[in-house]
Amino acid sequence: MSTNKKTPTTDKVKKVTAPSVQGQKGGEKICCMTAYDYSSGLIADDSGMDLVLVGDSLAMVVLGHEDTLSVTMDEMVHHVRATSRGVKRALLVADMPFMSFCTVPKALENAGRFISEGRAKAVKLEGGEAVAPQIKALSDAGIPVMAHIGLTPQHVAKFGGFKAQGKSVEATKALIEDALAVEEAGAFCVVLEAIPVEAAKLITGALSIPTIGIGAGDVTDGQILVYHDVLGLFDRFTPKFVRRYAELGAATKEALEEYCDDVRRGRFPADKNTIYMPDDQVESVRKIKIKKKK
Ligand code: KIV
Repeated sequence: MSTNKKTPTTDKVKKVTAPSVQGQKGGEKICCMTAYDYSSGLIADDSGMDLVLVGDSLAMVVLGHEDTLSVTMDEMVHHVRATSRGVKRALLVADMPFMSFCTVPKALENAGRFISEGRAKAVKLEGGEAVAPQIKALSDAGIPVMAHIGLTPQHVAKFGGFKAQGKSVEATKALIEDALAVEEAGAFCVVLEAIPVEAAKLITGALSIPTIGIGAGDVTDGQILVYHDVLGLFDRFTPKFVRRYAELGAATKEALEEYCDDVRRGRFPADKNTIYMPDDQVESVRKIKIKKKK
């Protein structure tokens, strides 16, 4: 049976909501992708994604920072708002940047900006039990929260690099505690990043909210990947859990090299790219005398 969910061209688009994502637990797998602007949001939405995340990974793949720690709230709001213009059907989620949710009042103020200025429909924040009060406060305020545990890139300094998490009995127990705490606090789903499939299976089985995996094996309720990784647009490093579906970086470079070559050799613009003066104006235009100011 076809599961093609492409955005219909009529006005009646059945929008994905946080409760509808939550309702997909144990059912059809939830397809999620990051996007960072109008055009990537439009393409992701039109491809049939259930959920589009404006991830703070934009710090690395769009802004060129070495990690995700430097992107600001203002930068994120700008990108979320642009992406919202392209996403019509999928659930648009905004990622709360480093330190933007370190207290409950900060979390409420900044998540509120994502909803009212950015037009996001939910927010994501990294952390487990430690951020349960923030998740509860946001949920109570009517803002759906996607939690994120395992390899949380905002804790890269504490982890000593982008390293897989939960690779022991003790670490798995701690992950389970975090997963239960974010569910209890009101998260509508939780991202599991870079953890062993065995741990992901336990957590997925224990929770009543969906788990969205990135490097957590095939046992989660959904999957998410970074747009630039999937399309071959980011070369600095490619984690083991990424699958590339296209090599658009290489294809784009080739196209731009061809353009340069055409310009240098006078092959572009061609006649069909050229605007000509209407016939009845040509003679008079030719006679225009140009006087330069001294
Ligand atoms: O910032 C991001 O893109 C993310 C996803 C990879 C889950 O957090």
